[in-house]
Amino acid sequence: MKITIINGPNLNMLGTREPSIYGNTSFEQYLNQLCRQYPDVEIDYYQSNVEGVLIDKLQDAGFESDGIILNAGAYTHTSVALLDCIRSISAPVIEVHISNVHKREEFRHKSMIAAACLGVISGFGMNSYRLALEALLDWTAEREP
Ligand code: DQA
Repeated sequence: MKITIINGPNLNMLGTREPSIYGNTSFEQYLNQLCRQYPDVEIDYYQSNVEGVLIDKLQDAGFESDGIILNAGAYTHTSVALLDCIRSISAPVIEVHISNVHKREEFRHKSMIAAACLGVISGFGMNSYRLALEALLDWTAEREP
């Protein structure tokens, strides 16, 4: 089982970025923990601040991973290009947010990409990623013959 985690803009700054919203843990620290918790899952991680580079990575991972966990950051709320990309690939994608976007500014309530995703997990801090991983494991197990 191979899962790709893709983080979008400003998520390279987790740990120092707005800690009251996103916490004090860097993504690398969290990822280490997650990999130790799921030794049987191959977890590939990628981050970019650039929309087109995220699309390139989604296009690659979308045909070689069993599932994608995508935190598209602010592009979630703006990017038709990401929506089209998710619709073009075969791997299931789960949209993830660390914060509960519905408790925040109104412009964060709209997701351009959710309609193309398997589901959305928002508001559980870094654990949103683990919950998405669990959801992908369950979804895959249910589909196995
Ligand atoms: C975020 C929420 C987005 O609205 C914001 O632009 C981010 C992070 C989250 O993980 O809570 O960059 O995706």
